[in-house]
Amino acid sequence: MTLGQVLLYFMLYTYRLITVNLSNFLTGIQKQYLQSLNRSSNDLRHECSIGEGNMGEISLNINGKVQTHDVGDNTLLVDFIRESAGLTGTHVGCDTSQCGACVVHVDGVSVKSCAMLAAQAAGSDVITIEGIGTSDSLHPMQEAFQENHGLQCGFCTPGMVMSAIELVSKNKNASEKEIRDGLEGNICRCTGYHNIVKSVKAGAEKMGV
Ligand code: FES
Ligand code: FES
Repeated sequence: MTLGQVLLYFMLYTYRLITVNLSNFLTGIQKQYLQSLNRSSNDLRHECSIGEGNMGEISLNINGKVQTHDVGDNTLLVDFIRESAGLTGTHVGCDTSQCGACVVHVDGVSVKSCAMLAAQAAGSDVITIEGIGTSDSLHPMQEAFQENHGLQCGFCTPGMVMSAIELVSKNKNASEKEIRDGLEGNICRCTGYHNIVKSVKAGAEKMGV
């Protein structure tokens, strides 16, 4: 082996050593960064769910049953419903008031429960998806979704159904455009919306509103 070849091997070996160590170093930093992000978002979610700064007890009438629980200043209505009342049919898809998976009725009006503090709803009548029907006795709007294939994974469906009920209660003969406009705050990642619109039309007829 010539001196040139030895030098070449040495340079290649050194280069590989540096790149492997650099790559491990960067991967370590990336992992730490991702772990810190994960920890921050979990901490934030935990703080939001239990609430910071105890306000004391509040009572809400949920699906005809009075629920009294301790809340924090910043406890969201959706967390009161899911975690304090244990009604997990109301979903959380974004936490930022965009997807509509968390829609419930508060005193007859559909609201995104991730965008309302539990304390703001104190004393109100709240209806969640559990309050409109059961698996043995579906609400007409739920039947319409089932019959018209208005769902696939079902994640958006509780919020979609609650919004649809309010929509057709206000406008029984809603056109396709009015239904699409009325549900623009509800995002479905599966169905492409066509069958949801069909379901809402059918639901309005079944409800006879
Ligand atoms: S969870 Fe409330 S709008 Fe998405
Ligand atoms: S059915 Fe899957 S998100 Fe709507």
